[in-house]
Amino acid sequence: MSNIKKPYVIVLGNEKGGTGKSTAAMHVMVYLLRLDFKVGCIDVDARQGTLTRYIENRIRYNQTHEERLPTPVSKALQKANFDDVKQNEQDEKARFDEAMAELSDCDFIVIDTPGNDTFFSRVAHSYADTIITPLNDSFIDLDMLVRLHSNDPNNLRPSVYSEMIWEQKKNRLMRDKQPIDWIVMRNRLTNLYAKNKEEMHKILTALSKRVGYRLVAGFSERVIFRELFVQGLTLLDLQEVGIPLSMSHIAARQEIRSVLDMLQLPHLQKKLETAG
Ligand SMILES: Nc1ncnc2c1ncn2[C@@H]1O[C@H](COP(=O)(O)OP(=O)(O)OP(=O)(O)O)[C@@H](O)[C@H]1O
Ligand SMILES: [Mg+2]
Repeated sequence: MSNIKKPYVIVLGNEKGGTGKSTAAMHVMVYLLRLDFKVGCIDVDARQGTLTRYIENRIRYNQTHEERLPTPVSKALQKANFDDVKQNEQDEKARFDEAMAELSDCDFIVIDTPGNDTFFSRVAHSYADTIITPLNDSFIDLDMLVRLHSNDPNNLRPSVYSEMIWEQKKNRLMRDKQPIDWIVMRNRLTNLYAKNKEEMHKILTALSKRVGYRLVAGFSERVIFRELFVQGLTLLDLQEVGIPLSMSHIAARQEIRSVLDMLQLPHLQKKLETAG
């Protein structure tokens, strides 16, 4: 795998809370761990610490059960708290670089960011090979990508978040001569509002070229995600921990596989070639 970039950095981000970043981060990581990749993660949302707690719950699960569920090496970064903004930024950049260096032997580093704009989040985005932005099927979430006027796809302005991504794409290109693959992943899809779902698909597809992302279908709405968090488990662990797989679980695991396929991660493609 000498010609493949290591570590490959995947950032979960958007500037809206509760769209599924931390949940998706955990599922992506466990998927990669189960393929025997070495995975590290950085929680730059340590104040909320959802991903950190998810991993703590998983470690506790391992301590109290017989299984040894694969678990990522994890780092949590707290915001700096000096009076001076520049000093805060220097301190945060130095600690971010340190965490990245400590994880440099990983195949993948997954970074979970908060649902609002922070310095840590901007730095993390600028190091991404892939950014995954989970989006719920609502016009409020759509607003995070573009400012729409009267739902007319021809009458739009970029949102502050898409402007930030363009900025970080430029930074990445100048610093590393590398592009960023931006993925918008629809999450919590339901069949209840089929009309709305279809409308969102049309708009998101129409916007994809203009805003510069690739669109993927993500996870359906499933109550099980909440319960899994508490136990530190993912849908990819159910068999190992002895939970019988229902049709819904099987469909959910298939959704996760499809998302990972759509990411077109070079390591995975290489692994499949080698295996085949
Ligand atoms: N597909 C889904 N179906 C049902 N519930 C989901 C789904 N995805 C996420 N959730 C739930 O939604 C809540 C928010 O998810 P999560 O914490 O992953 O979002 P987030 O984007 O990381 O939030 P924040 O911006 O606050 O960090 C959690 O309770 C999670 O279990
Ligand atoms: Mg989160």
